[in-house]
Amino acid sequence: MLDIQTAVSLQTFNTLALPARAEFFCRVDTDETLLEALRWARDKGLRITVLGGGSNVVLLNDIPGLVISMAIPGIGLQHQIGDQLAVRVGAGENWHLLVQRTLAEGWYGLENLSLIPGLAGAAPIQNIGAYGVELSERFLSLEAIHIPSTERLSMSADDCRFGYRDSFFKHAGRDQYVITSVTLSLSSKPQLHLDYPALQQALVERNPTELTPALISEVVCEVRRSKLPDPAVLPNAGSFFKNPVIAKEQYARLISQYPDLVGYPQADGLVKLAAGWLVDRAGWKGVMRDGVGVHQQQALVLVNRGGDGAKLLALADEISQSVLSQFGVTLELEPRVYP
Ligand code: FAD
Ligand code: EPU
Repeated sequence: MLDIQTAVSLQTFNTLALPARAEFFCRVDTDETLLEALRWARDKGLRITVLGGGSNVVLLNDIPGLVISMAIPGIGLQHQIGDQLAVRVGAGENWHLLVQRTLAEGWYGLENLSLIPGLAGAAPIQNIGAYGVELSERFLSLEAIHIPSTERLSMSADDCRFGYRDSFFKHAGRDQYVITSVTLSLSSKPQLHLDYPALQQALVERNPTELTPALISEVVCEVRRSKLPDPAVLPNAGSFFKNPVIAKEQYARLISQYPDLVGYPQADGLVKLAAGWLVDRAGWKGVMRDGVGVHQQQALVLVNRGGDGAKLLALADEISQSVLSQFGVTLELEPRVYP
């Protein structure tokens, strides 16, 4: 049943704990309630904002219109052909609990994506990725509702136009759809992806007798906990900037000047730089002021210790300027900023 509340604080609905309020707010746990909410807002000419776990948003001000908090549940095996499994997940499922559930069921493929905050429905928005695997590699399709027409539709991987921290939903599809479920391509036969340097290093240190998806998940969680702050303890939105992708000529010039620069050659001949290294080398790690700062263990993570969104963005801007002037590299914000 649709229950619209007014002037709701969103501080506990965003992992930066920014103190914005929603003019109108509702939680939706079925497709039908979602449709009701969309029609209610449309009839009143209100703006619609969809919120998952709030782990990739910067809320600068109160949000006008209706904020829809996604809570549609459900995890189910759709079909199995040989080792290949199609698993459909409601948009309101917690991502990490989903990863744990799939491992318990013997449905493999999400282990490298353990402990990413947020909900399943947001995973396609920026094509979540970690430790050498991206959602796009495990994605079959999604179901969504087109906001202006309230029509239901299904989208393939091609429709979603996934890229590094990118998709159709950040461009032409921005604010046009509510994702209601995601169907993943998993396998009953483990295929481990162990290439990511920090994962490799942690495995060498552990020297396990057997490599299993459950062990990979455990090690990924351990590596993540060693550098990423827990938002429940220290509010943050994960990486504040994307890793910039530059031409190989520019990379060659930079590496001759900074031999320990971290870069990953891409299939298209470009090179992805570790923005954390750039921000760290520009001297920002651990800097704290006006209640906002740069995390001690990971310079790509900005933290909020009682500041506000404007102060966070001012800090981010100063960091970007200094990285641009020192390295000639432009940084792009990763979280979605709500002005
Ligand atoms: P929200 O922050 O609520 O929303 C993000 C955007 O998606 C918003 O624009 C929102 O409108 C839109 N949206 C959300 N749900 C829907 C829906 N159902 N339909 C339509 N639009 C929707 N990301 C990575 O990729 N890799 C990482 O390793 C990673 N590590 C992180 C570590 C920490 C400590 C934190 C705090 C964040 C990290 N993130 C990482 C970022 C974040 O977890 C992901 O982007 C996640 O997918 C966001 O999910 P959410 O439900 O919190 O989305
Ligand atoms: N580094 C530094 N100093 C720092 C931080 C990093 O020198 O302060 C160096 C590290 O030593 C390492 C390299 O930079 O050599 C990369 O660091 P890390 O492995 O921590 O990964 P990242 O590139 O900073 C990306 C994602 C993370 C994801 C990890 C693991 C982006 C923007 N960030 O971080 O995703 O968890 O890789 O795959 O792509 C997120 O998107 O919110 C996020 C946390």
